[in-house]
Amino acid sequence: MMSKSFAVIGDPIDHSLSPNIHSAAFREMSLDSSYIAYRIPKGELEEGIEGLKKIKIYGFNITIPHKIEMMQYLDKMDEACSLIGAVNTVTNKDGILKGYNTDMDGFLEPLKKRKLVIANSKVLLIGAGGAARAIVAGFAKEKVKSITIANRTLENGNRLSEFAKMIGLNSNSIEIKQVKDTAKDYDIIVNSTSVGLRNEPSIISLQGINEKTIVYDIVYMPMNTDFIKKAKEKNAIVIYGYEMLLGQAVRAFEIWHGVEAPYNAMKKALLGGF
Ligand code: ATR
Repeated sequence: MMSKSFAVIGDPIDHSLSPNIHSAAFREMSLDSSYIAYRIPKGELEEGIEGLKKIKIYGFNITIPHKIEMMQYLDKMDEACSLIGAVNTVTNKDGILKGYNTDMDGFLEPLKKRKLVIANSKVLLIGAGGAARAIVAGFAKEKVKSITIANRTLENGNRLSEFAKMIGLNSNSIEIKQVKDTAKDYDIIVNSTSVGLRNEPSIISLQGINEKTIVYDIVYMPMNTDFIKKAKEKNAIVIYGYEMLLGQAVRAFEIWHGVEAPYNAMKKALLGGF
């Protein structure tokens, strides 16, 4: 059988950990496959996709800035992908591209692993970008009680809040600065912005939260963001960004290979990348 090729496309892509994670899985499962990082700048997606088809790519992941634009090059898509309006995983069957969004299940996976029951929880979601949309869809699936979206730009928050309502959630939108000392009123607090990536201080105060509060940061580099550190000081239940990254990779692996992913080998490779 021919060896299978995979890729992650985006820009910047040099520091992507996806090649490490998937290559470790191939080794663990003795699969004759390879996975590379392929830089496709904004505005060059169509040509990039043609190139991938020419080399008979078996599947690929999509990251910033192409997750939304990629939608128009798909021939088919799954439910999560069409609901969220963004794609992060594609299969190629004889030139027919099918899109999936594994960010939603990838986000939920660490919560499930800890057996946390989140139905009826009050959620504070910071940020309203592409990642936030998949997260909102995940919370809708789990039927949380309400979701407050706190964003720097109110308009973007309002738009995401409308989406949340459309898919059946109780939702409202505020500006980040309005959060003040209200974090303690929520059961789950998620940072879906890029704040922390450059070691910035936490974007909100976590004053008053306790050991039952779930604090989830989707920033995975550095692993211990200031937001995570502040949550730990309060003994909150902490979920790291790398766990979502791992969750989406595990789901993508299973879509492509049709077998259970070697979670521990993938986790080890990911953590080795830090
Ligand atoms: P992604 O696809 O990774 O979610 P994105 O779509 O660019 O990235 O979204 C970035 C999110 O981080 C947005 O909610 C953005 O807020 P705005 O809607 O106001 O732009 C937020 N964000 C980025 N940098 C920020 C900063 N320095 N302070 C506050 N919010 C920030």
